[in-house]
Amino acid sequence: MNKQILLNAFDMTGAMHNSHGLWKHPENRRHRRYKDLDYWIEMAKLLERGKFDAIFLADVLGVYDVYGASKAPSIRDGVQVPLNDPAFVIPAMASVTKHLSFAVTVSTTYEQPFGHARRLSTLDHLTKGRVAWNIVTSYLPNAARNFGLSDMIQHDKRYEVADEFLEVCYKLWEGSWEDGAVIEDVKNGVLVDPAKVHEIHHRGEYYSVEGPHLTEPSLQRTPVMFQAGTSEKGKDFAAKHAECVFVGGTPEKIKAAVEDIRSRAERYGRNPEHIKAFTFLNVVVAETSEEAESKFLEAAVYWSGEAAKAQFGGSSGYDLSQYCDLDQPFEYKHTEHGQSRAKSVTKDAPRILTVQEVLQQFESLQRGSVIVGNPIEVADAIQSQFEASGVDGFNLAHLVTPGSLEDFVDLVVPELQRRGIYKKEYKEGTFREKLFGKVGSVLPEDHPGSQYRRDVKASAL
Ligand SMILES: Cc1cc2nc3c(=O)[nH]c(=O)nc-3n(C[C@H](O)[C@H](O)[C@H](O)COP(=O)(O)O)c2cc1C
Repeated sequence: MNKQILLNAFDMTGAMHNSHGLWKHPENRRHRRYKDLDYWIEMAKLLERGKFDAIFLADVLGVYDVYGASKAPSIRDGVQVPLNDPAFVIPAMASVTKHLSFAVTVSTTYEQPFGHARRLSTLDHLTKGRVAWNIVTSYLPNAARNFGLSDMIQHDKRYEVADEFLEVCYKLWEGSWEDGAVIEDVKNGVLVDPAKVHEIHHRGEYYSVEGPHLTEPSLQRTPVMFQAGTSEKGKDFAAKHAECVFVGGTPEKIKAAVEDIRSRAERYGRNPEHIKAFTFLNVVVAETSEEAESKFLEAAVYWSGEAAKAQFGGSSGYDLSQYCDLDQPFEYKHTEHGQSRAKSVTKDAPRILTVQEVLQQFESLQRGSVIVGNPIEVADAIQSQFEASGVDGFNLAHLVTPGSLEDFVDLVVPELQRRGIYKKEYKEGTFREKLFGKVGSVLPEDHPGSQYRRDVKASAL
């Protein structure tokens, strides 16, 4: 059988995500409806009808206020603000679906591992094993100030903190409760066997957690781990912890980055096949190419360059309002924000770009970033990107919601299914089982997190 495309809807529980300015589009609904549970329930049903693997819910913990040293450009266009907490919509979406999974973003820099591990175990119980965690270290200076710091913790140190955060989570998820701890022994009056529930006694550099974990083990114990950093530290972190990684760029760049992460994973003793790779997808589709083209042009009218620059400012640390000499080369400078974003217009660009060329990338909706066409043309482009880059799947963005996703489900999904490169039916099981088959529901034994399991520890003695 052909390798089949994995598909996540790339979304956020706020007014706008990355389709900058398109709240003004007459067909856009989300900026009014994202506060309604019904919107998310309808979205979940739509995505399950389209056999999406998961909805990926991004999140940030501050406003974008780097561009022009002001929050106004981002707030004016609703750039990831107003933004609700992503976790709360998940049980509602799970209650109307059977197979769709939910990847929720949580920051290791600002949350505490004990409370976080409990929340994700709860979600994994309530969804019957359909939860993933998008692990982020957060790049917004405003988030740091919201959580009591005067400035961001430095980029590489954030990954060090994250590493210990995960160690605590693994101890809670994998090591605290033994299988079979809940015995329901009515005769002897024992619901839970205390001998099978353990403190973790974690004393590290950044965290101190006694335990035990408050929730009993969920189907997956540890949720499926997503990660999206491609700096040196980011790749190393992904290689150790992630089961799904996100990589952008040309097919060659994606291939090289994924090979790099997988070979680092081998050095951690992991099977490289236990990492799935995803890249971005944005599609405008209609019955005919002409209709699709005019839909794209209509969407482009509403694009907001100011909003796009505001988002770039926060994620990269480059304040584009300071770049006035248009013919000068746009030079790399180190920032403590996201490294991949900063490099995308400098070190990772195909050549040195001028300031004007970089500014232009944000000032209009880029034709090259969107696949536009009829269902056959779109499926051709997706298939060739899938084959050339060697990825396992895509995070599908949207220009107009829910319209762009409805079009995709109605027009593109049947064509991908006809070609045999997209599932017609879901597999049974938890999210991890759906993704990796025989690996099973809990972390595989080659994953560092599984080393905290008591049976693994015991058998190693
Ligand atoms: C597909 C994708 C989704 C992301 N989602 C979030 C998010 O929801 N919240 C966040 O703070 N960062 C998010 N990021 C940013 C990453 O977590 C990370 O900060 C960024 O890729 C830079 O990492 P690096 O400095 O290791 O290169 C996302 C990145 C990608 C590629």
